[in-house]
Amino acid sequence: MAKKHIDPKPTGNISAQPRLHQRAREIQAYGTVSYLLPLELEEPVRLEMTEQLNQLLADTMTLRDLYKKSHWQVAGPTFYQLHLLYDKHYEEQDELVDSIAERIQLLGGISIAMAADVAETTQIERPPRGREEVPVQLSRLLDAHQIIIRQVRKLAQRASELGDDGTNDLVVSEVLRRNELQTWFVSEHLVNVPLVEAKEPRATAGAA
Ligand SMILES: [Fe+2]
Repeated sequence: MAKKHIDPKPTGNISAQPRLHQRAREIQAYGTVSYLLPLELEEPVRLEMTEQLNQLLADTMTLRDLYKKSHWQVAGPTFYQLHLLYDKHYEEQDELVDSIAERIQLLGGISIAMAADVAETTQIERPPRGREEVPVQLSRLLDAHQIIIRQVRKLAQRASELGDDGTNDLVVSEVLRRNELQTWFVSEHLVNVPLVEAKEPRATAGAA
C-alpha cells in the first residue's frame, strides 16, 4: 500500500503543520513610542522617559548579572554568607529589571533585552571573565550601585517635572529604595573590623 504523506503546502492557508524559520520586518523600531495611547502623557514625554528608563534597564541588568557572577565565583572564608547574599540581591535586581522593562512597554516604547545590546549601552565597567577576590567583587558591586543611584535620582526628578508620576514612583519606591538597601548590606562587608580579637583592647578595670 502506498505511504501517505501529509502535504506541507495544502491548498489554502490552513494546515496542521508548523511554519518554521520565519522572519519579517519589525513591527516597531527601537527608540520609538506608539502614539495612540490613552495615558494622558504626550509623546515627547514618553520618548524621553523610555530612553532614560532603557539606560536604567541596561545598568540594572548588568548589576543583576554582576551579582550572579559574584555568586558563582566567590571564594574564601566568607564564601557561604556571600554566596547566599549575592543570590538574594540577584533575585531582587531581577524583579527590578522586569518592572523597569514593563514600564517602558506600557509607555509605548521598546525595552532593551538582549545581552549584546545591554553590553553596548551600560555605563558599568566590564569585569574580567576570571575570578576576583572578595574585596574587588564588593567594590565593583558598590560602584555599580552608585552609578544606578545617581542616575535614578536624576530620572526621578525629571519624571516629576514632566508629570510622569508613575515613572517617578517606580524609580523612587522600588529602584532607589532597593539599591540603597543593597548598598548598605554590601558596604558593611568592607568595614575592616577584627574577627576574633579586638585590636585595641581597653585596659581592664583595676589594672595598674
Ligand atoms: Fe546558585
